[in-house]
Amino acid sequence: MKKQSISIVGTGYVGICTAIGFATKGYKVITSTHNPKKATSINKGIPPFYEPDLQESLQKVVRNGYLECTLDREEAILNTDITFIATATPSQPNGSINLQHIKNSTREIAEALNKKDAYHLLVVKSTVVPGTTQNIVKPTLEKNSNKQCGVNLGLCMNPEFLREGSALHDTLNPDRIIIGEYTQKSGDILESLYKDFYGEKTPPIIRTNLVSAELIKYASNAFLATKISFINTIANICQKIPKADITAIAKAIGLDKRISPHFLNAGLGYGGSCFPKDVKALIAFSKSLGYDSMLIKAVEDVNNTQPQQAIELAKKHLGNLRNKRIALLGLAFKPNTDDMREARSIPIINQLLNEGADVTAYDPVAVSNAKSIFGDKIKYASSAIECLKNTDCCIIVTEWQEFKKLKPEDFKQNMKTPSLIDGRRIYNPEEFSKKLKFAAIGLGQ
Ligand code: UDX
Repeated sequence: MKKQSISIVGTGYVGICTAIGFATKGYKVITSTHNPKKATSINKGIPPFYEPDLQESLQKVVRNGYLECTLDREEAILNTDITFIATATPSQPNGSINLQHIKNSTREIAEALNKKDAYHLLVVKSTVVPGTTQNIVKPTLEKNSNKQCGVNLGLCMNPEFLREGSALHDTLNPDRIIIGEYTQKSGDILESLYKDFYGEKTPPIIRTNLVSAELIKYASNAFLATKISFINTIANICQKIPKADITAIAKAIGLDKRISPHFLNAGLGYGGSCFPKDVKALIAFSKSLGYDSMLIKAVEDVNNTQPQQAIELAKKHLGNLRNKRIALLGLAFKPNTDDMREARSIPIINQLLNEGADVTAYDPVAVSNAKSIFGDKIKYASSAIECLKNTDCCIIVTEWQEFKKLKPEDFKQNMKTPSLIDGRRIYNPEEFSKKLKFAAIGLGQ
């Protein structure tokens, strides 16, 4: 059977990883962007962001002719059978999502489809609040294409669950596939595409309506964010009980199959391009329906105050932070990415600067993104050891693998006064507290 050809609108994590995923399995994929620099770079095999192993995979599919990026959206749509929309849905100042990119992309796709006779399937992959596909995408599509969904157009909502740092792996090995369908035919086409794509490894496929598919994405992210704020709450309680340790508690509760061990790592809170935005959007969306989502608001409140824990622990060690030299290890919102969006390092650094501290930071890949946020307000080191030199206190903000390898001696030998705040629970408290002043999230003093 001839493989369907695919166009993808949007060149962020979801767009690029979906494109590379399909291309890797031999589908002809055309991505499109309005940014000439991005297109040139993708066509050279250089992804627009850092992600482990992504460049290698992109180069391979570009070289083999399975993936190309064009500035001509119409050509991309007309030469393919299925189009995925994977454009960004950023937050507005009131927390609700901004659907401008979705609206513009849908209109452009529809204008191209106006010139096409054959049936075409449009799949919304972007995270959108319930009702968006039915009430915004569908009418925009029908009006500008002069076609009708369910007649000569197919429409599905198919949320994506990939994580940064393991984006391609997640694309190729999802836990489940959600297909929200406008008509059975649209769902059948998408299901057969995924069955062909994953073959024997096809995960469970849930077919449902458009609104449920849209809400599944928010419910998943809000639930994971809830687990994090929950474990951080217990961690904060631990800190007030001598000898209590969140690591043992998380391990123990995680063994209960109903709870599961995942997403129970206590720390300085969640960041990134999804959780903060999606939690906010769900709160704003519920409010628009007249429902006050108290639980989700509490999840957000806990997360907003969690970075402050690092500051409080540093103050316990140093007293006043004025003119104290602080080493900050880890700037990215999580390891294996250079993404600084909503990174916990941002509120921590801002607070340290407000308190008059002198901050030196190091991150294996996020320094250049951090420079665009902090400029010369902080210093940047080119290694973890250099970052520690002559400092009074070190805060671990992101759990990069290379920080896990540091020994108590590295801190003792390089810092002026060896004091360490483990914000991500990467060190053994017994080993470290014997050799230096040591405090950690979720560890009773
Ligand atoms: C998340 C979802 O996992 C993914 O399914 C969705 O598609 C996009 O949003 P991502 O933001 O890339 O993915 O990273 P994730 O690994 O989920 O981590 C998000 C944040 O939570 C990070 O800041 C991380 O440090 C934090 N986190 C995660 C914790 O603090 N504790 C944990 O146990 C897990």
